[in-house]
Amino acid sequence: MPEYLYQQLEQTLRDEIKSGQRAPADRLPSVRQLCAEHEVSKSTVLVAYGRLESEGLIEARPRSGYFVSAPQKTKKNILQSPAPSQPTSAPAEVSAGQVLVDIMEQGAAFDLLPSTEVSPGNEALRRCLSRAQRQQSSAEQLYYDEPMGLSSLRTQLAQRLGQSGSQIDKNELVITSGCQHALLLALMATTQPGDVVAVESPGYYGVFQLLETLGLQALELPSSAESGISPDALELALQHWNVQALMISPCYATPTGACMPEANKRRILELTQPRGIAIIEDDIYGDCYFGLQRPRSLHSYDDTGSVLLCSSFSKSLSRDLRVGWIAPGRYLEQVKRLKVVTALASSRTLQQGISRFLEEGSLDRHLRHMRQQHRDQCQELQTLIPKYLPMATRCSQPEGGVALWLELPDSVDTVSLYAKARALGITITPGRLFTAQDRYQNFLRMSFAHPWTTKRKEALKKLGKLVLTNGA
Ligand SMILES: Cc1ncc(COP(=O)(O)O)c(C=O)c1O
Repeated sequence: MPEYLYQQLEQTLRDEIKSGQRAPADRLPSVRQLCAEHEVSKSTVLVAYGRLESEGLIEARPRSGYFVSAPQKTKKNILQSPAPSQPTSAPAEVSAGQVLVDIMEQGAAFDLLPSTEVSPGNEALRRCLSRAQRQQSSAEQLYYDEPMGLSSLRTQLAQRLGQSGSQIDKNELVITSGCQHALLLALMATTQPGDVVAVESPGYYGVFQLLETLGLQALELPSSAESGISPDALELALQHWNVQALMISPCYATPTGACMPEANKRRILELTQPRGIAIIEDDIYGDCYFGLQRPRSLHSYDDTGSVLLCSSFSKSLSRDLRVGWIAPGRYLEQVKRLKVVTALASSRTLQQGISRFLEEGSLDRHLRHMRQQHRDQCQELQTLIPKYLPMATRCSQPEGGVALWLELPDSVDTVSLYAKARALGITITPGRLFTAQDRYQNFLRMSFAHPWTTKRKEALKKLGKLVLTNGA
């Protein structure tokens, strides 16, 4: 039985058409009728019809409804439509691992095309950083900073964490080299090689890499694009597996953009705390909300020290700073020791510059602008997708984050699409990167972090053509 309602409806209709129960040119039930008969929403019916239409099995006639297509109008014929211009170099087979290396080598921060726009926060940041550089004393050049990180930066961060409901003292925070480093320290502090770690699926590819490197086993929990992992799925998993840690992003998970309801955050703690399971919360997108208020962190509901909160400035300010933090709860001593083992210390000058940037309120100004921009760019992408990628049959509707999660027809393999798009100078992020299993081969994460310039729209259009002629 297919997982989603739209897939179930689609399968039922496909079977009826293929078995001849519905003959060519037959009129299909109206959307309203199907909603009532199958007790599903209008969007479920529209998605199912849209997918059958892109398969060539049915056709929509304006003001008349949907009809079964004539037999010759099958998917095969759609594939035989005029060929597009040829790629500049021959497409090569690429595995998901190679794709990730390739994406990282290109900077990992863009989708479709590299971007050159400058954010208004950049100038203030540059000013604060160069001032810190100028004021650096020669003694500071001789010694390492204290392993936990600069006290004034931790004070600023502890204050900011209050916005997500977390009450943290600066002495409970450790500065790291980005969020990836924070996640590494959290896993090292809470697990041993061979342990099982429950993760979101689809989930951030960096997590799968960390688990592989540390010899840990990933237990993938299904995660919806609206609310993330379901506590029921977690409960079931915990009945069958000895899970040591749970790694999740309750506030705008990547790639789905899901935001976990408050009740689910509490329920997850109720399930994990009695079992002594550590929760590693990746809050890197927490500040990237579209609405008026930041969602609460899961950490803010914890009173036992079992949540290790990890984040950085990579999504909210700059990926290049390589400055992040961890509030490791009851694992503080282990994390402090591991920070020394893995990095010795962080750059004092850099931290001074950032601390100053936060103190003068520049981060908040920058974030207000960025959120507005991301919200607009997200909406624009949602209108561009049906225009340029009409075969994208499902698309997430996030309330924050920086990307949409798109489902294309089953026949599209986005890993091979990656190689073909690259040959045209276009970068995509295939769904296969967001799992350790063989899944999401027809999914795509698409960023809305950059303005929809003419060039970028052009790239989206080319990508749409490529999808149409390579499997849809
Ligand atoms: C969900 C998530 N966590 C962590 C990271 C790594 O962040 P950083 O650049 O701060 O190491 C990323 C980067 O893409 C991410 O998307």
